[in-house]
Amino acid sequence: MIVFGIYNIKGGVGKTAASVNLSYLSSLDGYKILLWDLDPQGASSFYYEKELGNDASLKKIITGKVELRDIILDTDYRNLDIIPSDFSYRHMDTILDQVKKSKKRIKEALKDLKNEYDFIFLDCPPGISILAENIFHACDYILVPTVPTPLCERTYEQIISFFEEDELDASSVIPFFSMVDARKSIHQNMMKKLTREMPNLCHSAIPFLADIEKMGIYRKPLAEFNPKSKASASFKALWKEIEKKSSKHK
Ligand SMILES: Nc1ncnc2c1ncn2[C@@H]1O[C@H](COP(=O)(O)OP(=O)(O)OP(=O)(O)O)[C@@H](O)[C@H]1O
Ligand SMILES: [Mg+2]
Repeated sequence: MIVFGIYNIKGGVGKTAASVNLSYLSSLDGYKILLWDLDPQGASSFYYEKELGNDASLKKIITGKVELRDIILDTDYRNLDIIPSDFSYRHMDTILDQVKKSKKRIKEALKDLKNEYDFIFLDCPPGISILAENIFHACDYILVPTVPTPLCERTYEQIISFFEEDELDASSVIPFFSMVDARKSIHQNMMKKLTREMPNLCHSAIPFLADIEKMGIYRKPLAEFNPKSKASASFKALWKEIEKKSSKHK
């Protein structure tokens, strides 16, 4: 089992778009996949049209009173399961603050699923809170969608500093370019700069494309409603690269 967190301190950078498409594409390859939506916005849950059950309160999950395996739902797709979030996830930090070993609760909750899944994807909310620390401890790789702008350069540096200060393995941080507009000189220049500065940067980049926004209309991964599109191809290339990078773990 390999756990990927799709994470950035910054909001609106394409974390959910990547979570939905990477989880789906990996499931098409025959891997057994779980997507856990950790964001109270519930965007991944919305795309996959799934809702968290009433008996699955976040508090019970974090305190171990409910096991993750009992709240996992099937999606409409073979090999792909989901744990949806709901608005109660907004209390995540408060609940984590109240428990012992509070930085390792997500890791602990996932332990039980070790033999059930090949890959687990965590769609993470923005921010750097105790939940983010949980994500860093639980994940084998942190995938960081990075819009080629100074603000995303800054959040990448903040993530790396955090890893180093907490003695976490910064080599598990894998950035990839997201929402790239190749016509913008700022994007072109930042991409050149960041390619030099980011040791684990993926070669595959996700362009800024209207098809990706249309996922909200179809409520499906791209490869389901527009498999021949450039947008779909960009996520396929990214998945292949991430699959390869993570293969040393198996
Ligand atoms: N590559 C892209 N091209 C065009 N639009 C995109 C792209 N990626 C994401 N979007 C759109 O931008 C918005 C934000 O994307 P998304 O929800 O994936 O970001 P996020 O990082 O998960 O945001 P949040 O921090 O709020 O969770 C959405 O409306 C989405 O459809
Ligand atoms: Mg999101």
